[in-house]
Parts: sequence; C-alpha cells; structure tokens
Amino acid sequence: MDIIPVGPGFAAELRGVTLNDVAYDDAAYKAVRAAFEEHSVLVFRNQEVTDELQLAFSRRFGPPETTKVGSLGTGSHFVILTTIGPDGKVVPPDHRYALRNRANQLWHTDSSFKRTPALTSVLSARIIPARGGETEYVSTRLAFERLDPALQDKLAHSFAWHDYNHSRSQIAEGLATPEERAALPPVCWRMVWKNPVNGRSALYLASHAYAVEGMSPEAGKALLDELTAAATAPGTGYMHEWKSGDVVMWDNRATMHRGRPWPAHEARLMVRTTISATAADGLESMRPPAQQAAE
Ligand SMILES: [Fe+2]
Repeated sequence: MDIIPVGPGFAAELRGVTLNDVAYDDAAYKAVRAAFEEHSVLVFRNQEVTDELQLAFSRRFGPPETTKVGSLGTGSHFVILTTIGPDGKVVPPDHRYALRNRANQLWHTDSSFKRTPALTSVLSARIIPARGGETEYVSTRLAFERLDPALQDKLAHSFAWHDYNHSRSQIAEGLATPEERAALPPVCWRMVWKNPVNGRSALYLASHAYAVEGMSPEAGKALLDELTAAATAPGTGYMHEWKSGDVVMWDNRATMHRGRPWPAHEARLMVRTTISATAADGLESMRPPAQQAAE
C-alpha cells in the first residue's frame, strides 16, 4: 500500500489497496486504519463499489449508523444524497433535496448533532456532474495546533451545543421537519476531541454548533464563528474533485467538510455510510460533566 499525501498537512490517497481488501483482510484493515488515524482524509480511486461492499468496508471501523428519519435511506445503513427525484428527473432548485445540498455546503462534521457522534463517513460517487460538486476538507487538528496555547487550554475545557435544526434553519425555515426536530434534540460535546491513538487534539466544530456552555449566546456564537474562520482559512483545505469510482473516507473527529455547488440541472448521486464513534475512539472524554448535560 502506498500513501500519497494530497492535502496541506493532511489527506492522502491510498494506492495498492481496495475496499475489498480492507473488508476481508485483517492486515489491509490495520494498515488503512493506521493511515486514517494519521491523515484524517483517505482517498481511494477506481473502486468497484456496491452498497454491500461499501457497508462491509465501513463496518471494519465500527458500528454503522442507521439513517435518521427524514433522510433518504431512513432505516437502512445508507444515506442517499441525490438531486434525482422519484420520477427520475433532476429536482428543481427549491426542492427539499436541493435545499439539503445547500445545507451540506456549510462547513460541518457529520452527526455532531446525534446522541452518538460519528467516527468516520465513507462517501462513494455513483453519479457525478461534469463539473462542480467537489467536497472540500479542512483539518481541525491542524487548526487546533495553530491556536495559541491559552486558547487551546480554554477550549479543551469548554463544551458546545449542537443542533441539527440550527444548521438547517440557516438555509430555510422549516427545512428540518417537526419529526426531525423531535428525534434530534440538542446535544453537548467537548470542543476538543483528543485522538486516543496518537494523542493529538482537534477542534470539534460544525455548522450544527450554536452555543458554548457558560457563555452568553452572543459571545458563544462569536467564539464559534472565530474558530470556524480560523479552521477554514484560505490555503488550509483539500478540495476533492470527484471521479467515477472514487471513495473518500474522513475522520469526523478531526476534520470539517463542505460540499461545493454544481449546475442545478445536472444529476448527482452519492452514497454515504457513517460509522459511530465508540469508547475506543475517545467518545467518553467528549461528554460534558453530568450537571451540564442535565440542563
Ligand atoms: Fe457531511
């Protein structure tokens, strides 16, 4: 297996290894897992992807999420991200599918709004537009390491509230349905996720984050905005230009990402599997003290 760095200090393409190898060979899994811990974003090119293979690959890294209410694929282990409507035609720009893509264009990490956040997301390109529709990544680990030590220390002891409705309401009121809001109440996480394998800390931030525990709403929002701007500063990102057969996986503990727009009349179909974080991934240290969680 060859590891070819593709981004500024993080993100790597893996060559000489396939999804099938990782799914069925322990040594291949171990090598890819080590690269995942180190590089945060892994790119596999020219893969022959089926839903079954993508799930078998993903399961190696931990328990798969069941897709939430309100998403295409609900109840399965797959999230279908598409602009193709039930009639086989590309949906208009004000359709819920298209608005959801716009919400994906805000910087975020997947599933920070869930009761169990995600370790990794695995995304495969099934139908891609001729141009646009890239996915852009930043390292919140490198962003954390760029902060001054006093702020690092403060953030390591700070907690932020995350709410799915917060990110969706930035795109359109009511984009998160009452059913989704009821299923996804706000959750609170430490603002720094320390990787238990290598001890490196990362900012845990997302468009879903709306408040910081113990700060006024204005001050908390200002801090979240300031950290997001620092984490996404120009020149710090890796832009993945999708080709057919691409699979990208990323560490939701140590990155943020956003989708990039593409011409509205062009079809795009991507399939995501998402693996929940477990204690071995440092999850327990992310929980707030009990008195804060009770609020
Ligand atoms: Fe995402």
